[in-house]
Amino acid sequence: MQVSNYPYEYVRCVDMEQIREAPQIQSHSLEGFIPLLSLTEGCGALLVILMIVWTGYYRQGFSWRSNPKLEFNWHPLLMTIGLVFLYANAMLLYRTQRNVRKQRLKLTHAGIMLFIILLMVIALVAVFDSHNLAPLPIPNMYSLHSWVGLTTVILFCCQWVAGCVSFLYPGLQTPLRASYMPLHVFFGIAAFVGAIASCLLGLNEKAIFALQSKYSAFVSEGILINFIGLLLVLFGGLSVYLVTQERYRRLSRPEDEVLLSG
Ligand code: HEM
Repeated sequence: MQVSNYPYEYVRCVDMEQIREAPQIQSHSLEGFIPLLSLTEGCGALLVILMIVWTGYYRQGFSWRSNPKLEFNWHPLLMTIGLVFLYANAMLLYRTQRNVRKQRLKLTHAGIMLFIILLMVIALVAVFDSHNLAPLPIPNMYSLHSWVGLTTVILFCCQWVAGCVSFLYPGLQTPLRASYMPLHVFFGIAAFVGAIASCLLGLNEKAIFALQSKYSAFVSEGILINFIGLLLVLFGGLSVYLVTQERYRRLSRPEDEVLLSG
């Protein structure tokens, strides 16, 4: 018989009032998790650094409403930091912080997602301003990028509200929570994939707008943009892999059953 905490999975009884521990031996191997996580975080950090280099140096840096052209640069940078880098880390939180209490994990998960919404709003204000306040105003919401992007933003916000209502406050009853969980996971990953796709479309669009014929001449900015695109795919792929591997899932514990709502 096992004596350590970890090889046990505590399963819930159907009756909410009588939550009992039913130890169930599982084969649960974390092999490869740390190297893969390190590779993922390395790609993510490089992605953010290269985005700063591109927007800050190649695209002449940042401003706000006094210079709508430079105000635009907040858009790709904040979307990448929020909807890509922080989003992946918030999804992975339950696996990277597996020894932290579930209640704290839930609050941190929701808190990071809320911070992402704040970054997303600033990024959207920046891009709409850059269109509306330009000397020759540019129409809004005409491109495929903007349609995929806005759909992703709406999905992300719906996920956040549904997650808070189900898992934090007021909190659904256990069987309902259990049946909503796979949907929460599916749509969470779908919005993340949508964010990666939006970034790729946005990057490609901006490269063609900004570089025009220089893009096909292999100028350094074009190569940097392409490299950022490849990093987005790699970081996105690794993050989805880590978050979908059953063997890396955090095992639940008896105290997990305590609802935040008491
Ligand atoms: C998840 C990430 C992203 C989301 C959700 C998103 C969303 C949006 C939305 C909704 C618009 C429409 C604004 C308007 O019509 O005034 C827009 C515009 C734009 N975005 Fe993004 N964006 C993202 C990332 C990026 C990235 C990484 C770039 C790279 C440069 C970028 C480049 C652009 C450009 C050039 C426009 C203006 C042209 C257009 O409307 O397509 N976006 N974005």
